[in-house]
Amino acid sequence: MAVKTIITEPNKLLRQISKPVENVGKEEQELMKDMLDTMYYANGIGLAAIQIGVPKRIIVMDIAKEGKKEPRYFVNPVIMNRDPIKNTHEEGCLSVPEQFAEIDRPSKCEVEYLDYSGKKQFLKADGLLATCIQHEMDHLEGILFIDYLSKLK
Ligand code: NI
Repeated sequence: MAVKTIITEPNKLLRQISKPVENVGKEEQELMKDMLDTMYYANGIGLAAIQIGVPKRIIVMDIAKEGKKEPRYFVNPVIMNRDPIKNTHEEGCLSVPEQFAEIDRPSKCEVEYLDYSGKKQFLKADGLLATCIQHEMDHLEGILFIDYLSKLK
């Protein structure tokens, strides 16, 4: 368990495409614990491995309200389905300090992934969960939420 340094814009590592995980073993589980510690320490609700400099397709999240912890782990997540209806949410990012913006994303999505123990899982997400998953999955492709803003200009 360790709190790691979160890398921030314009660090080029954030633009790297993360690689699939071949096997969820001890090393990956240690990484997920560190990611979660780092995320909680920074008061975030989601973190991708690349944000602590590790280019692996791993995400941790916890969107529970204060008090109870509900950690979620996503390894090699793939979006299977996106709702055509969009939802607007104010987003921020631990790698883009002190910037917030309203971003449109599909309001619902279905995700296939491996969990903490490497078991295949399927999740139907909506609301904040859907927004957060899509935001974190963008990190795996080297995309930041601010990119959607520059496209409008
Ligand atoms: Ni982010």
